[in-house]
Order: sequence, then C-alpha cells, then structure tokens
Amino acid sequence: MKTILGHHVKADLEKILFDREQIAARIVALAKEISHDLDELPEDGEIVLVSILTGSVIFVADLIRQLPQKLRIELVTVKSYPGRATESQGAKLIDGIDGSIEGKHVLIVDDILDSGGTLKLIRDELSKLNPASLRACVLLRKRRPSAMATPCEYVGFDIPDVFVVGYGLDFDNYYRNLPVIGTLREEAM
Ligand code: IMP
Ligand code: MG
Repeated sequence: MKTILGHHVKADLEKILFDREQIAARIVALAKEISHDLDELPEDGEIVLVSILTGSVIFVADLIRQLPQKLRIELVTVKSYPGRATESQGAKLIDGIDGSIEGKHVLIVDDILDSGGTLKLIRDELSKLNPASLRACVLLRKRRPSAMATPCEYVGFDIPDVFVVGYGLDFDNYYRNLPVIGTLREEAM
C-alpha cells in the first residue's frame, strides 16, 4: 500500500455501506433498546460498559451519549488483526480491566463481530469476575456462520462477509477516522 501524506482516506473507498445519517439513526434506535433493558435491571447493580479497543472507540463514544443511565466505562485491549491482516489471527487480550465488575451489570461493546473470537475471549474473561449480568453489543455483524453463532444481545447492522473500514474500523490502523463505513479499493490494500 502506498501511504501518501495529505491523501484523503475517502478516495480509497470502493463502496459505502452506511453513511453518517444511517449510522447515527441506527445508534439512536439501538441505544433506545439497550436503555429500555437497562431500566429493567434491579436498582442495586451498577452498570459498566466494557469497550474493546481500538475499533469500538468511535461507536462507544456515540452510543454512550444516547444512554441516560448512570454508568462507568472500562477499556480492554484485544489484538486479533495485527498489521495488514484482514482475517483474524486469533484474539489475544493485551490489557484487561482495572476496576471490579463483581455484582455489576456489564455491557461489552465492540465494533464488529467476525470470527467471534474476540467476543468469546472477553465474555469468558469477564464472566470469571462474577458480574451480575453480562451482555454484548456490536455495531456490525458479518453474515457468516461463526459470527451468527456467537451470542450477542445487540447488533446494529448485519453485513455481507466482506472487509470494511471506517467509523473506528481499520486496515493496518488507518481509516478509523472515516465518518462512513465502506469497503476498500483493492489498490489501497
Ligand atoms: P473477531 O474476533 O474475528 O470476531 O473480530 C473482531 C475484531 O476484529 C473486531 O474488534 C475488529 O477490530 C476486527 N475486525 C473484524 N472484521 C473486521 C473488518 O471487516 N474490518 C476491520 N476490522 C475488523
Ligand atoms: Mg481492529
């Protein structure tokens, strides 16, 4: 891939799957659904959102501003697509949560559900810490058997099994700043 300084990322897109308005509207609806469920929880349990870095940063920032509940955020770092990989190389936990989630209501937030390795790893790790409840939310889920078979309570959009970038999703750590979600032109990969 040629990295050209001053080059605009949008020029590398092949096709836009979701524009700014579509993403924003879906997040409003998704937050309503989550918020409704959070209101049903017993009042004694605290709510903790666990955001999986780096891909979920943009999504979680927009999502939490649609949630009126009192909540805390924890960050975990998982690596599964090192460098220019477009297939999971196996999810590895790089940095875990600092605070306690024991007896708390936990919502895991990630950008995309693909092989399911990341979500499975984080669910397994967090359930060892005895949360009161554990749910997961992703903005995107690929229509492939391994993704569809992975438990996930909240899904923004189901998409074809293609590699996408933008709105936090990267290729080799680029393109996260694109405000839209789309596929990359072959020349850009
Ligand atoms: P999984 O572990 O295979 O389910 O993949 C989840 C992680 O891989 C996500 O948190 C993303 O960071 C990354 N990922 C999976 N598919 C894509 C994609 O199409 N574009 C960019 N990143 C992806
Ligand atoms: Mg990633």
